[in-house]
Amino acid sequence: MISIAIDGPSGAGKSSLARRLAAQRGWLYVDTGAMYRTIGLYALQSGVDTRDEAAVAALLPGLSLALRYVDGEQRMFLNGEDVSGQIRTERVSMAASHVSAHPSVRAYLLETQRAFARENNVVMDGRDIGTVVLPGASVKIFLTAGAEERAKRRYDELCARGEAADYDTVLADVRRRDDNDRNRAAAPLRAAGDAVTVDTTGLSFDEAFRALCAAVDARLG
Ligand code: DC
Repeated sequence: MISIAIDGPSGAGKSSLARRLAAQRGWLYVDTGAMYRTIGLYALQSGVDTRDEAAVAALLPGLSLALRYVDGEQRMFLNGEDVSGQIRTERVSMAASHVSAHPSVRAYLLETQRAFARENNVVMDGRDIGTVVLPGASVKIFLTAGAEERAKRRYDELCARGEAADYDTVLADVRRRDDNDRNRAAAPLRAAGDAVTVDTTGLSFDEAFRALCAAVDARLG
């Protein structure tokens, strides 16, 4: 099986690039951030403090989380309901960042994530795919871009969706999430020793995709 691990900070373009790579090669795209977002949403719906590990861990036995492919698109189901749209708000982003710091949450998702890669050729994106989830991945990419550029992309995306957005707030959120993801004790965001870094700062989507493909093909040989 071929597995491409793509890690990096939020807003570096991981999911759109990973999705396109998977579509081009006929591999399965697995967005692991969506799984953390779904648990973040569930914690918010349940009214628990997302920073409180014991409270979040207590919710896990009552949680049914399923990742399904509908017309080739990954959809997330929470207790039978399709929450793929609901997990994309800023509020859920922050909740996901909190719950993903809890070792119990990471342990809960680990086997599901590994099972996808055992059974399929995958492009899997997240923060710890190359370091923890798939340490034996065929190719490891660390995809990054400057914080200002990532905030600008996020801001443009929110505006395009008609959501009220303020660039400085988005930038502060990007920095806060980077900080949470990099400095947590459990599976912090970092490049695996054998990852190829692809920096998309200043690149168009097509240029970034070409850079990603070049890195993948160089490793796959
Ligand atoms: O990639 P994303 O923005 O959808 O991820 C949501 C949050 O989940 C983000 O704060 C980082 C966290 N995450 C993680 O800790 N490990 C992963 N493999 C994927 C996401």
